[in-house]
Parts: sequence; C-alpha cells; structure tokens
Amino acid sequence: MGGKFIVIEGLDGSGKGTQTAMLEQSLKERGIKTHLTCEPTQYATGGLIRDALAGLSSRTPHEMAGLFLADRIAHCENPKDGIKALLSRGITVICDRYYFSTLAYQGAEIGYDWLMAANLSCPAILKPDICIFLDVPTSEADRRIALGRSSREIFENAETIEKVRKKYLEALGLLEKTHNIALINAARRPEEVAEDVLAAVLPLYGES
Ligand code: TYD
Repeated sequence: MGGKFIVIEGLDGSGKGTQTAMLEQSLKERGIKTHLTCEPTQYATGGLIRDALAGLSSRTPHEMAGLFLADRIAHCENPKDGIKALLSRGITVICDRYYFSTLAYQGAEIGYDWLMAANLSCPAILKPDICIFLDVPTSEADRRIALGRSSREIFENAETIEKVRKKYLEALGLLEKTHNIALINAARRPEEVAEDVLAAVLPLYGES
C-alpha cells in the first residue's frame, strides 16, 4: 500500500511547525513510517524563493508564483526523496505548506485563477490525501510572529496576514468539493489542536 500524503497549512504563526512535529510523533507511535518535508524545499528552486522571501533578491509576484510552481514540481518528482518516490515506498509524507499556500499568498497579490488551474491541472503535482488548515485569527498570528522572530519575512506584516487569511478561506471553500480538507481552530493549546489533527488524519489509515 502506498503512503499517505498529508498537507498542513496555515498562516505564519499558526503553529504549523509544532503541529507537524506532534503529528509525526503520534503516527510513529502507531508504527506508521513518516517523512517530514516543507515548501519552499531544500532544492535549488527553494533557495531562490528563500532569498526573495528574506528580501535578498527582488522578484515580481508572478515570478514568485512561477518559482513556487517549479519548486512544487521538483518536490513531487525528485527521484531520490521527492514526494512520489516516498509515497511509493509506503512512507507517509507530512508536508508543511503546499499549493494552498500559493493560492493564499500569491492569490492575495495577483489573484489565483491561473494559479489554481496550473497547480491542479499539472500532471506532475500530486493531490494530497488531506489538507489540514490550522486557523488562527490574524491578531493571534501577528502576536505569535512577534514573539518568535527577530526579523520578519516579506509576507509577515499585519495587513498582508489579513489578506492572506481571507484568500486561504476563500480558496479552501472552492476546493472543498474536490479535496479532503479539515479546518481546525488552532488558537488553543498545542495539545488540544494536536488531538484534532490526529483525529482528522487517522481515518486515512482506517482508524478513528
Ligand atoms: P518559511 O519561513 O520557510 O516557512 P514558515 O513561515 O511556514 O515556517 O516561509 C515560507 C513563506 O513562503 C511563508 O511566508 C509563505 C510563503 N509561501 C508562499 O508565498 N507561497 C507558497 O506557495 C508557499 C509554499 C509558501
């Protein structure tokens, strides 16, 4: 049996990192083989993106959208440790951000019609078995970013965060019929959120 492809999404400051790690631990305890990954990736395309996010290079929003698309294709297709290769070895892939992030972040800047078409119709880009959206109010995301960072990336300001949250919810609404999406209130204690995340994921393995 192939592995499951689990995507965790949310605003910067929504607790994705913590929840991703907690989910991996819970699945491991159940004897499920897992691999954690994220976007932007560690591949060359991911490096170009991170430089732009940090403000080290300047890229237009369309160029960024194209880079995220290319990075996602590399992420799916890399023969050694790409998502497809891992799934075919029976490994569950937990991915911190995927095309829902493109729809929300780039969608907030340049609209997402073409991005939705490009990401959903590209034969190289896999559809996840589940997308977990960790929802926090904008003010909470902003507060957590302020607590955790000395410097902010280009998308980490209150005005952008608000726009991005709106786009996330709008895009997830549009994808509801074709995707398995779990919207989870992440403005709670990490243990409570983790419990809901696990409950959303276990049915993929025939458990509840
Ligand atoms: P990073 O600091 O690497 O991750 P995180 O904040 O999740 O710990 O930043 C990733 C940034 O890239 C984040 O601000 C969202 C943005 N992003 C996009 O704009 N589009 C995308 O398609 C993806 C995957 C990320």
